[in-house]
Order: sequence, then structure tokens, then C-alpha cells
Amino acid sequence: MFGNIAKRLAGKTILITGASAGIGKATAEGFTEASNGNIKLVLCARRLEKLDVLKIELTKKYPNLKVYPAVLDVSKIDTIEPFLKSLPTEFAIIDVLVNNAGKALGLDPIGTIEEKDVETMFKTNVLGMIQLTQLVVKDMKKRNHGDIIQLGSVAGRNPYPGGGIYCATKAALRSFTHVLREELINTKVRIIEIEPGNVESDEFSLTRFKGDKERAAKVYANTVPLTQEDIAEVIVFTAFQKREHCYCGNFDFWYGPGFCIPYIQR
Ligand SMILES: NC(=O)c1ccc[n+]([C@@H]2O[C@H](COP(=O)([O-])OP(=O)(O)OC[C@H]3O[C@@H](n4cnc5c(N)ncnc54)[C@H](OP(=O)(O)O)[C@@H]3O)[C@@H](O)[C@H]2O)c1
Repeated sequence: MFGNIAKRLAGKTILITGASAGIGKATAEGFTEASNGNIKLVLCARRLEKLDVLKIELTKKYPNLKVYPAVLDVSKIDTIEPFLKSLPTEFAIIDVLVNNAGKALGLDPIGTIEEKDVETMFKTNVLGMIQLTQLVVKDMKKRNHGDIIQLGSVAGRNPYPGGGIYCATKAALRSFTHVLREELINTKVRIIEIEPGNVESDEFSLTRFKGDKERAAKVYANTVPLTQEDIAEVIVFTAFQKREHCYCGNFDFWYGPGFCIPYIQR
């Protein structure tokens, strides 16, 4: 039965943004393992050296795996189209887009949030994601094939004090994703949103607290947080489902003992 998973993923080209760390990196590892290396990965982030190391690690284990590591800063909106056009032919047709790059900066109350942080969060989490999606979905619509997997957050539904901007970006992602799904509901392009709760990933909290390790670690103290591998597992699970399957509900993941509500939405 589980052999079908590798078969369904075989030969697919998967583009992951923010693949140098955290959920994106774990997703690259997850897709590789689930397909036995029979896929092509376009791994993007700002730190090419980390992507190069990941490529070496993955191809050592799975020599048949094809990986194209590339610099893409999604907050630099006007670089996204040239980036897609520059993809080698072998990697140019995207079957699965994982819009993962994203960040929260600070926990400042509204009225004190730095303008630069507002701009960075909106450019990374919303404008970059929209630009990449618009460009990739055009081809998916023409081919009537493809998956777009969005990294939302429970923050997009349940905003909290101190999260004025981050929560707003994830609410924007959620709304955009909802429209895209409705527009494509009669096609074979699947639009999936994963909405994790607190994930103790490589750098999310460290980025939020701008390198303050102690403050970053406190976020997870006395909790059982989700891991980046937990989320990668769900992302890979959604992509290997039969194309004709349609799911209702969202993948909402909360941390804490025994509290986990899995839904999937097509
Ligand atoms: N961790 C959580 O609790 C949590 C919960 C819900 C949702 N999420 C969402 O899950 C996604 C991944 O988060 P994570 O926890 O894995 O964070 P992470 O550990 O900080 O990893 C973030 C990744 O995004 C990349 N990145 C940052 N800015 C970028 C940019 N401008 N352009 C391209 N890549 C960029 C980083 O690499 P470079 O620095 O090399 O570019 C890194 O690979 C985000 O969208 C986040 O909002 C996280």
C-alpha cells in the first residue's frame, strides 16, 4: 500500500521556498524520503551555502535525487519572475509549489512596531508569496495539474496581542488561498493550506527575537511544541494523495499534549 506513495510522487518537480532551515528544510528531506529520491527539488532561500550542504546530504543518501539549490529572496518581488525564467529546463515545470518562506519579527504592541519590520513581514509573507503563486499557477492552470501548498498559521485565525503584523500577514495568506482554491475548485490544481500552531523550528523564534537565544527558547518552555518534521510530514502527506481526492477542512495543528486537530482542505 505504501509503495503507492513513492509512485505518486515519482518524477515530480517540487519548489520549496525557505528551504535552508526549519519546516522548509524538513519538507525537502520528507519529500526525498517519501519518494526514495525519485523527484526533482528546487530549493530556494537567501543562504545558498546552507542549500548546498542540504543538497550534498540528500544526494549522498539518494544518488538519483536531482536538486537545484538557488538564491531567492521572496521579499525582493521583482527578482521572482527572472528567477523562475532562469530555472534549468529540467526543473522549469513545477508540479508542487511549497510557499514556506515566512517570518514573525518582534512582539511589539501596535503603535510601537518598527516600520521596517512591518515592511519585511508583508513583503516576505504576503507580497512575495502572491507574486510567486501568480506566476506558477498560470502554468498549472494551462496544464490542469499541480499542487500549491501554503504555510499559513493558526495566527491567521486566532490573532494574539503582540502579533499585530504577523497575524495580519497570515490572515491575508489565508484569504488569498481561500479565493485561489474556490477559483480552481473544478480543476486538478489543488490548493492546500497548512496552519501550524507553535513549532520549535530551527530559527523561527530566534528570528522573531532578533538573535536573542534566551528569549527565543522561553517560547517553548513547559510546552510540548510541534517539530518541523511534524509539519513536513503533513505537507508531504497532502501532496501524495490521489489527485481526485478532495478534502474539506484545514490542517490546523496545535501544540500541547494530545491536542491536535487535523483537517485537510483541497
Ligand atoms: N515555527 C512556527 O511556530 C510556525 C508556526 C506556524 C507557521 N509557521 C510558518 O512556517 C513557515 C516556516 O517557518 P519556520 O518555523 O520553518 O521558520 P525558520 O526556521 O525561521 O525558517 C525560515 C526559512 O525561511 C527562509 N527565509 C527567510 N526570509 C526569507 C526570504 N526573504 N526569502 C526566502 N527565504 C527566506 C530562511 O532561510 P534564509 O534565511 O536562508 O533565507 C529559512 O530557510 C513560515 O511561513 C512561518 O510563518 C511557523
